[in-house]
Amino acid sequence: MAISKKIEAFMTRASWIRRMFEEGQRLRALHGPDAVCDFTLGNPLLEPPRAVQEALQRAVNHPEPGMHRYMPNAGYPECRRRVAEYVAAESKLPVQPEDVLMTTGAGAGLNVALRALCDPGDEVVVIAPFFPEYAFYLDNHGLTMKTAAAAANFDLDLAALEAALGPRTRALILNSPNNPTGRMYSAERLRELGELLSRAEAKHGAPITLLSDEPYRKLVYDGLRTPDIFAAYDNVVLVNSHSKDLGLAGERIGWAVVSPRHRDRPALREAMVFTNRTLGFVNAPALFQRVVSQALDASVDIAAYQDLRDRMCGVLRRAGLEFVVPQGAFYVFPRTPIPDDLTFVQMLVRHRVLAVPGSGFGRGGHMRVCFSVPSAEIERSAEGFCRAVEEAQRA
Ligand SMILES: Cc1ncc(COP(=O)(O)O)c(C=O)c1O
Repeated sequence: MAISKKIEAFMTRASWIRRMFEEGQRLRALHGPDAVCDFTLGNPLLEPPRAVQEALQRAVNHPEPGMHRYMPNAGYPECRRRVAEYVAAESKLPVQPEDVLMTTGAGAGLNVALRALCDPGDEVVVIAPFFPEYAFYLDNHGLTMKTAAAAANFDLDLAALEAALGPRTRALILNSPNNPTGRMYSAERLRELGELLSRAEAKHGAPITLLSDEPYRKLVYDGLRTPDIFAAYDNVVLVNSHSKDLGLAGERIGWAVVSPRHRDRPALREAMVFTNRTLGFVNAPALFQRVVSQALDASVDIAAYQDLRDRMCGVLRRAGLEFVVPQGAFYVFPRTPIPDDLTFVQMLVRHRVLAVPGSGFGRGGHMRVCFSVPSAEIERSAEGFCRAVEEAQRA
């Protein structure tokens, strides 16, 4: 077999979403396209806003010589300047264009930062439940993942985090608003986290960088705002993406910003430009750098996602499921009515509803339900959820 044994094992472990997707295909082929309610994939439903379409048209209708060539690995200077101005306005810190690296989405931004910050064997802390790709990103760089369980309501559990931080910890990945829970951490909680990290740095005599993974930054509901992470701690790299807020997941565009307060600011930003190159990303997509730099203030219609959230929560509530109402992102993470989430998800499949078991995110007894789907599909799922819960209660 020509495939690495490790990758083969990873593919088996990570096959849940794919298996559910295949199950969906099978059920659709059998019963018709509208017979399945599929809440597995975190794909943005809403189309990019007008500002994106207009910037795209401008770029295409007024081509500039060299616009498809290589560029500096960090991205177009004009684009970095605009992102720096945008983050400076939000954080009230003197963010410079040199602090900004244009990236091939948040996935690339995280890999680039991890590569620049850590040596093989170093430890990185993640909060469970977590975005499953983190485990693979850490493995890409020979890093050890230490998990700290979130509280029952998915808020930060500072005692659990303290226990996970050790002398080899070089980074903590924080994701707020969160995939899969929809939890957004408050400014107060983030400040407490910052204090905890400062104490851990002093105790172990080594720097710890907070990697703030914020692709859902603008997707927050009920008038909330995602707090500024630079205010919470000095050693921060903010990783952002326009996959969700501008609906551009297929275009692979985002950015990473080294906090002006990061103690190794000049070295880290140079290191990240270097790792962006050597990991093979080279530079972020040229056309979409131009587009997003003209659409930084825009977003998809957040109220439409909030409406889908409310509908999904209504359906889950009527089925008698227990859950924390998401403050952001487009996922709900209900408790399954039986502790075995894999079995419950199979019960849902029998009623043609697809969700992902929480075990895949590092927390069993739960499931992830993505509400970035048409409202009719959410409403149609009500009966399936109710029947599956009844079945679980009888079992
Ligand atoms: C928490 C989290 N981080 C990172 C990513 C990767 O996003 P991107 O498409 O920008 O690479 C995702 C995508 O779903 C995500 O949910």
